[in-house]
Amino acid sequence: MLNVVITGGAGFLGQKLAREILQRGTLAGPDGLPQPVGHITLFDTVAAAGPDVPRVTTVTGDIGDAATVQRLIGRETHSVFHLAAIVSSGAEADFEAGYRTNLDGTRHVLEACRAIITHAPRLVFTSSIAVYGGQLPATVTDDTPQRPTTSYGTQKVAGELLINDYSRKGYVDGRALRLPTIMVRPGKPNRAASTWASSIIREPLSGVDADCPVRPDSPMACLSPRRTVDALIRMHDLPAAELGPDRTLLLSGIRVTAGEMAAAVARNKGNRRTGTIRWTPDAAIQKIVDGWPGATRSARADALGFTTDGSIDEIVQAFIADDLDSQIRSRQAE
Ligand SMILES: NC(=O)c1ccc[n+]([C@@H]2O[C@H](COP(=O)([O-])OP(=O)(O)OC[C@H]3O[C@@H](n4cnc5c(N)ncnc54)[C@H](O)[C@@H]3O)[C@@H](O)[C@H]2O)c1
Repeated sequence: MLNVVITGGAGFLGQKLAREILQRGTLAGPDGLPQPVGHITLFDTVAAAGPDVPRVTTVTGDIGDAATVQRLIGRETHSVFHLAAIVSSGAEADFEAGYRTNLDGTRHVLEACRAIITHAPRLVFTSSIAVYGGQLPATVTDDTPQRPTTSYGTQKVAGELLINDYSRKGYVDGRALRLPTIMVRPGKPNRAASTWASSIIREPLSGVDADCPVRPDSPMACLSPRRTVDALIRMHDLPAAELGPDRTLLLSGIRVTAGEMAAAVARNKGNRRTGTIRWTPDAAIQKIVDGWPGATRSARADALGFTTDGSIDEIVQAFIADDLDSQIRSRQAE
């Protein structure tokens, strides 16, 4: 039976990942063959809301504290999904907290894995397309160089390199996924500069107005949480030989403009009374968004069997099916 740790387990992707692993019931074990998942530990600074089942334990603590992470990950740990992070504008606003969580925290996870002398656990790390910056092509590909222009992006590139090096040394069987913007994110807006992309879909469908700080023609490289969670599990289960020494994989994200998001809401709203999108330009956010790639396309991910969404409609429909009811209920409870 496998023991799995998910850091950032109370967050958006950590919660969805835990539920999907429970649903599937197995992950690749140390020998690469599917084995039942016996236990999942959700680690976060805040208590995870669920899943409330005996196979799941919630542990609160700070990934920036080495001793805490040594207690979290031990000889009984087979797999770690390392998702804990302070997101882009949070890491930009607080330099020290960003480095402590996003860089020191990753090093602590790797060191705790290295201390397991009996085996090298599988580790999946969530990187970001914030590793790219400067003059970018309209579509970022496997060949685009990493030149981050934020602390968050720098911390993510550093994490990718550490994963390669600890894997090369045989201390961990590490893998990293470079994620585009994952949407639609349920709940409330967060501190990410991309938060509007989820807001202008989630809020109107919940009957609430939303502000969009960028022009309608502003593109975003998007991927649904469904495809992302599937990719996290696929990346975990992939034989290491298929990755080779470069353990980081870019995921393909489709190009969708803010205007196309708004149109997809109108097409998919059904009988719902929707909120309005207010176009309220914010020069600072527009500048950040203008520096991002409009799409990502990875031939390597294609060849390894990773998939991307067919259209923005598919992404909106997945949100309606998976999250809209609970989104509306939590709004009504406020
Ligand atoms: N969602 C996206 O669009 C996106 C895009 C690119 C990369 N990523 C990466 O994917 C991962 C998960 O993203 P998410 O959208 O679920 O983010 P999230 O903010 O919902 O979840 C991250 C979790 O990390 C926790 N955390 C923060 N500091 C911590 C600390 N010091 N110790 C322990 N836990 C801490 C937070 O409490 C939060 O629950 C992150 O690493 C993020 O950088 C996400």
